Amino acid sequence: MTERKSVAEKIDFLRKEKNAVILAHNYQIPEVQDIADFTGDSLSLSQMAATTEADVIVFCGVNFMAETASIISPEKKVLIPDLEAGCTLADAITADQLRAWKSEHPGAVVVSYINTTAEVKAESDYCCTSSTAIKVVQSIPEDKEILFLPDMFLGAYAARVTGRKLHIWPGECHVHAGIRTRDLEEMESHHPGAEMIVHPECGCTTSLMYESMNVSANGNGNGNGNGHVKFLSTGGMIKHAVTSDAKEFVIATETGMLHPLRKANPDKTFYPAREDAVCRFMKMITLDKVLKSLEEDIFEVRVPEATARLAKKSIDRMLEITV
Ligand code: 13P
Ligand code: SF4
Repeated sequence: MTERKSVAEKIDFLRKEKNAVILAHNYQIPEVQDIADFTGDSLSLSQMAATTEADVIVFCGVNFMAETASIISPEKKVLIPDLEAGCTLADAITADQLRAWKSEHPGAVVVSYINTTAEVKAESDYCCTSSTAIKVVQSIPEDKEILFLPDMFLGAYAARVTGRKLHIWPGECHVHAGIRTRDLEEMESHHPGAEMIVHPECGCTTSLMYESMNVSANGNGNGNGNGHVKFLSTGGMIKHAVTSDAKEFVIATETGMLHPLRKANPDKTFYPAREDAVCRFMKMITLDKVLKSLEEDIFEVRVPEATARLAKKSIDRMLEITV
């Protein structure tokens, strides 16, 4: 029996004994995705955290995701196998900065991407994910000013698709911001005919939308793009690749995404837009750390009650609109 197998078996034993569920984001290393009970994007992982009957959630993702699970299910024990697993995008705005921004726009509606801290969510009216941003913005009355944060590329995408004027915080994810239009152009020249699937956090999103992709500018489109470019959340990428007639795809997002795409589509070929689009935080979680987390009940993520109550309102509003 190999070492890896025995770690996986121990994990399996403990998850049953503790009535634990292991949730993993699509960017996790393949070994972690493969032992998870459920793998998905930010929205589906939140929904899972809300509906699971497990007593313990081992969250294989980054900190804001584990915090979100704890906000949604405060009665459950939420564990993250490595506390260092942060997110540069979530660090792009603090609650103090948001309060100052709000004071410059009294009465504005605040839409915060799920990649934010619990304190920032608590200061927000709506939470959104990459798969719900358009619907959330569209649900807000036309006469309202909107503050959208913290990702400027997702914000520009939402503004373009909905036709709404948004105030956008100038934050970015260092991994996605590094995926530029020239990377996509180069891949296209090597793989003509491949479908381009782009996460809207990418640095190339805005120019791709404006230059050639005919994303609906009047708010009537679904915002997913046309022709051979699609703008999708990580979960949307899997659903799309399964049903698409294309046989080759260029994937513009964190490279962990290639594993679930290939697993779900063994007859199709996927190329990363950039081989170095790697989120070091997502890769911090290993099978050994998942095992240790279950053995020692570490590291528990808890959000102070008052913050969690306010933050939950913004998440619930998103779930009401989009589920
Ligand atoms: P998804 O919700 O599309 O999985 O995105 C999460 C994320 O962190 C992207 O970098
Ligand atoms: Fe955060 Fe970017 Fe990593 Fe996603 S890929 S978790 S946005 S740092």
